[in-house]
Amino acid sequence: MRIDVVSIFPEYLAPLDLSLVGKARAAGLLDLRVHDLRGWTDDRHRTVDDTPFGGGAGMVMRPDVWGRALDDVLTPEARLLVPSPAGERFTQRTAERWAGEEHLVVACGRYEGIDARVVEHYAARGRVTEVSLGDYVLNGGEVAALVVVEAVARLLPGVVGNPESLVEESHGAAGLLEYPVYTKPPSWQGHDVPDVLLSGHHARIARWRRDEALRRTAARRPDLLTLRDPQGWDRRDLEV
Ligand code: ADE
Repeated sequence: MRIDVVSIFPEYLAPLDLSLVGKARAAGLLDLRVHDLRGWTDDRHRTVDDTPFGGGAGMVMRPDVWGRALDDVLTPEARLLVPSPAGERFTQRTAERWAGEEHLVVACGRYEGIDARVVEHYAARGRVTEVSLGDYVLNGGEVAALVVVEAVARLLPGVVGNPESLVEESHGAAGLLEYPVYTKPPSWQGHDVPDVLLSGHHARIARWRRDEALRRTAARRPDLLTLRDPQGWDRRDLEV
């Protein structure tokens, strides 16, 4: 998979050299390219923004600069992502869908955002998604780009060593929060690991984990239970 990120702060994306994403890049599983938007400016000051028409606070990113950048970076098969608090909410399901894309381009806005004609223009020519991490405001799209790249990259075949860990994790195939996990020592500061996990009884352990996942989800995120497909529930779910 290829991902291009365009930003006025390319250094912000440096963590993508580290850990699993860094290894995926080194192994050739992910072709990640980070670009400085100012490379597409055409004035001495490398200007990327200007004052908003209609007045008001802050600055807006110029469509001509973004247009030159995106014309160079987009391919016919690419999906353009524009992080924005006004976008569609990013979830694990979104990450799963985008992990199947050939090419993603992330356009990181700053200041008051990118001139609205940019999304309009590219949406008429290809696939564009304005994407939000959640209901809060960040200073720009770079943190969202980090989140989207990491969440998508770890779903690419070969990136996570044991693909089974993708099934049971929070928001995984079951759509539940993950059960609590423990390691040695079995007793710490008066807190004991639940006996069932030391029992070696695989069926009981699996049942306990499923019950804990359901209990946690019901207590912390009941909205996730209503999103689940009731046809996918089995008898054990209904006993909880
Ligand atoms: N840019 C600013 N706020 C954002 C958010 N909540 N999600 C994605 N991009 C953003």
